[in-house]
Amino acid sequence: MALSDIRGREEIVRLVDRFYDKVREDQLLGFIFDDVASVDWDTHLPKMYAFWQTVLFRDGGFRGDPIGKHAKLVPLTMMGREQFDQWLQVFESTVDELFVGENATHIKACASDMANVIHSKINGIPNEKFDPSKLTDGQRAKYAAYRKE
Ligand code: HEM
Repeated sequence: MALSDIRGREEIVRLVDRFYDKVREDQLLGFIFDDVASVDWDTHLPKMYAFWQTVLFRDGGFRGDPIGKHAKLVPLTMMGREQFDQWLQVFESTVDELFVGENATHIKACASDMANVIHSKINGIPNEKFDPSKLTDGQRAKYAAYRKE
């Protein structure tokens, strides 16, 4: 069957469920969720549906603190470029396995941007590309959609 694009909530749920199934099996990442952070999946999955719905369609109602939550993991485990690259690789391969189209391309670009931001902020690495004064209006609007109020 030909793949189609991410259209709304239903596709987001499919993507997120499949992504975390793979992440939990991943040698480099799985234990961070299940052993280090002891993630409550009944809470985490709906939160991630809301997060991606907010990023892609601006209507997921996500409220949270992604930088703070990931920063708390830094003293407990490795949260370096290797882990973020692996996270991105799993995310992108999951999108490609299930969807194709404008939103599928966009969600991968958003994930990559955010992985760069989270990685640099939690590790205290200056990230030239994300100097707030250099953001375009489009980027500013995009980040405003998931900034904590
Ligand atoms: C090394 C890569 C990553 C690891 C190991 C990781 C791990 C985690 C863990 C364990 C949590 C739960 C924290 C808690 O509830 O206390 C979490 C939350 C979250 N993660 Fe990640 N993450 C990674 C990368 C990313 C990236 C690249 C994004 C965005 C594109 C992301 C988005 C989120 C969001 C939105 C939350 C919920 C934050 C909140 O509750 O406010 N994560 N992550």
